[in-house]
Amino acid sequence: MLLGGPGAGKGTQGTRLAERLGIPHISSGAILRRIVATEDSELARSARVINEGTLIPDGVANAIMFREMEKPDAASGFILDGYPRDVAQAEALDGFLAAREQALDAVVALLVAEEALVERLTGRLTCPACGESYHVRSAPPRVSGVCDRCGQALTVRADDQPDRIRTRLTEYRRKTEPLIGFYRMRGLLRPVDASGSEDEVLASILAALANEGSEGAVAATTAL
Ligand code: AP5
Repeated sequence: MLLGGPGAGKGTQGTRLAERLGIPHISSGAILRRIVATEDSELARSARVINEGTLIPDGVANAIMFREMEKPDAASGFILDGYPRDVAQAEALDGFLAAREQALDAVVALLVAEEALVERLTGRLTCPACGESYHVRSAPPRVSGVCDRCGQALTVRADDQPDRIRTRLTEYRRKTEPLIGFYRMRGLLRPVDASGSEDEVLASILAALANEGSEGAVAATTAL
């Protein structure tokens, strides 16, 4: 599981880890954006709050994510990104996994200072077709404004407007950050300094995953 504030790099690293580990990257935000963009349903209408930066109801998030984790391509494991988002979702996930005799291996907390998060989000460009993410300064596309992967015109996400970024940061601090303590108590937490380059962060994640237990990493993070 990748845990972190808005813009911490969950999507970026989730994509890279999925390629490296050969298991699917299940991003709740990407799934919700796809539903909102392509479906005309009650679910799509209720999920439109994602554009405002507030969380959708727990029951809806759980149902969407359980469906993904049940897919055959997730049978050998998966990377969760953006889920769970609060303690109620984490407890629902525990129950879901226990019923399937599965368990989380590790929870990687991507730690980045808030000013850096805002800088990353205000420069982000996203492909509405394939979901690939870019940054105008740190990770620009090869051709300005065009997705490297599929050639679509890049857009700015609706929730990357400054007022919505503030809402998302508040939601994160109030509802999601408590999960750091929740998973630390369970011995699953692998805190990672995610302020470096994408390559440096990937290397830190792989090193944290290779470490048995999280105590050393937790001690290192206290200084961040
Ligand atoms: P979601 O898509 O999960 O949004 P988020 O948590 O705000 O995270 P982001 O996607 O903005 O950032 P990221 O951490 O993936 O960073 P990225 O890699 O893109 O959710 C969207 C909304 O859906 C939520 O607000 C909520 O409404 C709803 N939702 C989702 N899940 C839910 C749930 N479980 N329950 C209820 N509601 C839910 O990187 C960001 C930028 O930084 C990019 O430009 C990237 O190129 C750049 N970057 C990445 N890494 C680096 C680096 N190392 N150095 C410099 N730049 C970098």
